[in-house]
Parts: sequence; C-alpha cells; structure tokens
Amino acid sequence: MFATQSWDILPSERINRLKILVAITGASGSLYAQRLLDNLDPTAHEIHVVLSQYAQQVIATELPEGLRLPAGVKPHGLKSMNAPFASGSNPPDAMVVIPCTMGTLGRIAHGYSEDVLLRAADVVLKEKRKLILVPRETPLSLIHVKNFELLLLAGVTLIPANPSFYAGARTITELVDTVVARVLDHIGIPNPLAPRWTEERE
Ligand SMILES: Cc1cc2nc3c(=O)[nH]c(=O)nc-3n(C[C@H](O)[C@H](O)[C@H](O)COP(=O)(O)O)c2cc1C
Repeated sequence: MFATQSWDILPSERINRLKILVAITGASGSLYAQRLLDNLDPTAHEIHVVLSQYAQQVIATELPEGLRLPAGVKPHGLKSMNAPFASGSNPPDAMVVIPCTMGTLGRIAHGYSEDVLLRAADVVLKEKRKLILVPRETPLSLIHVKNFELLLLAGVTLIPANPSFYAGARTITELVDTVVARVLDHIGIPNPLAPRWTEERE
C-alpha cells in the first residue's frame, strides 16, 4: 500500500522551528517544488520562496494552475537583496533548489552571487548550513559532473530528481513524492510521504 499523506508525527520526532528557503529554477519538474511546498508546514517552520526568471516560464508550461503558495509562505523577488537570507548574519537553516537547472548549479558551484537566489546559496555554503540541490538534466556532460564534484566537495547534498519505482507509486504525484520525501529527510523533517524500504517479514 502506498503511504497516506498526513502529518502523523510522533511527539518524539518533533523538531525545532527551522528557517527554510525553497528556490525554484527553470528545470523541468516544477511539480517537485510544488510538492515540497505542499509538505512544508509554515506554522511549524519559517518558509521562504524565491524563483529564478526562467522558473516562471517552466511553471507556466508544467503547472496548469500555476504555483500554489501555501498560506504563510513568504515569497521574495529575485533582484531584491533585502531578503533576510541575502546576508551571512541571517542565513536559513536549509536551502533547497528544486528543481535545479545545470545553469544555476554551475553558477552556485562557481560562486556567482548576482541575484538573491545565488547569493543565498553562497551564504548558505559559507555559513556551513545545509544546501540541497535537486538537479534535473539528461544526459549529463563532463561539465555537469565536474560541477557535481565541486559541490559535493563543498558539502552540498545532491538529490537528483530521479523517482524510485519500487514502492508502487500509481500517480505522477506519488512518483514525485519519492524524491520530495528524500529532500524532507535531508532537511531533517520527519515525513510519511513515501514508503521506506524495509526487511521482508518472515
Ligand atoms: C520547458 C523547459 C524545460 C527545461 N528543462 C530544463 C532541465 O530539465 N534542466 C536544465 O538544466 N535546464 C532546463 N531548461 C533550460 C533552462 O530553463 C535555461 O537554461 C535557463 O536559462 C535556466 O535559468 P535558471 O537556472 O536561472 O532557472 C528548460 C527550459 C524550458 C523552457
């Protein structure tokens, strides 16, 4: 059976309020971003969102109803360095770039900081907070792989947008959730989104 999508978290699993920045770029897979936002609770955590210029274009192609921002999520303009996370004095606990283009991934790997999305990634790296990238591209070039290597050496977590099929997902959303569950795991948010691989019972 596929897991239900509810927040049935045990008291022992409750975690501190986190400041989380969700950055959305112009890679295919806007639904990954939507499902992550749908599964982050803005009453439990401080959730910020920023979109690259090209994210808007891909969202228009892939999400017929547009991106739904849950109540309480704070959107930020790409060009405003007034966002709190643009400074090392106020970094997020975690930043997720989902889905992440090879362009943004390369710019982060090489320290470009010309807009607030890239600056935030630079801040998260220098302040040694958690940076999770969800790259989406196929096939990969040597340049992509070298950038992956550089980012891994810098402590970035790479969670490619590769869904898993062993849990019997029946819809695109359930497949997408197999990736989103791993992202939530790495932020440190307990979730029942995708079933876990467990030992077979005798
Ligand atoms: C419909 C559509 C899908 C795209 N999918 C991808 C993709 O999966 N991966 C990628 O690296 N770029 C993809 N691109 C290209 C990027 O949007 C483009 O390189 C853009 O300059 C990236 O800018 P950004 O990184 O600031 O979002 C796609 C573009 C469009 C219009």
